[in-house]
Amino acid sequence: MKIITTIPQLRKTIATMRRKGRSIGFVPTMGALHNGHLSLIRRSKKQSDITVLSIFVNPAQFGPKEDYKKYPRTWPADIQKARRDGVEIVFAPTAHAMYPRGFATWVSMDKSITDTVLCGRSRPGHFHGVATVVAKLLNLVQPDIMYLGQKDAQQCVVLHRMVNDLNIPTRVVVCPTVREKDGLAMSSRNQYLSSAERQEAIALYQALCLGRDLIRNRERHASRICSAMRQHVQKNSRGVIDYLNAVDPATLQSLRKIRGAVLLAGAVRFGNTRLIDNIIVPTYNG
Ligand code: PAF
Repeated sequence: MKIITTIPQLRKTIATMRRKGRSIGFVPTMGALHNGHLSLIRRSKKQSDITVLSIFVNPAQFGPKEDYKKYPRTWPADIQKARRDGVEIVFAPTAHAMYPRGFATWVSMDKSITDTVLCGRSRPGHFHGVATVVAKLLNLVQPDIMYLGQKDAQQCVVLHRMVNDLNIPTRVVVCPTVREKDGLAMSSRNQYLSSAERQEAIALYQALCLGRDLIRNRERHASRICSAMRQHVQKNSRGVIDYLNAVDPATLQSLRKIRGAVLLAGAVRFGNTRLIDNIIVPTYNG
């Protein structure tokens, strides 16, 4: 496994791979690797000749009051996991290499998918930072396929849009959310939870399942589904709800009536830790 920290070194290695006709699968991460990331790596290993994993805690996607400084950095364990799972190249640039002095170019997207829906409402500018760093990484790695986790539903929609709009020749593959035994979605931020918070955190997934069951039982009013999901979290935890919403999975706009597939998505703060989760419910009309 090659560990690359500079852009010229990465470009050289990628050019060699390309010359040899190798297909490239790319898994972008901020490290603190868990089984969710590992499922993306495994998928890439199945579909591509070479798997490139990036580990970069991107300062541009954290708000001034967010956890950039304390975001978990678990380099030795990450490298061990990447090696064990057969990653060929780890790209771990410095912030200075990615955002040198005078950096002035950003990927700016329509606020209706970045800033006015779901996580964007409480994290303004977050997806601007995500889109910019991923555009840079795609230019550097030039992958055939990029693998993303469904847990970050809005990120998947935003990056799909960006790749299409900018005609980036990379296919985006979204892999299912990997869950703990009790259903909690795996996330690097789970390690912030106290044991009491960890127990309560399951209320978020349970609420989404409750919403799904209501839809399966033919409830079609989004407002009723969302109230039931909110009530579940409020009754079963001390979590503070940021949002619990039923939205169109393609546009992320809130729905009034359930028709076709629905994305049930939520963000809840347990103590100081904000967790997100979602499920897609296919709807059979009637
Ligand atoms: O999902 C993440 O870990 C990050 O948002 C990503 C895609 C690596 C961009 O920094």
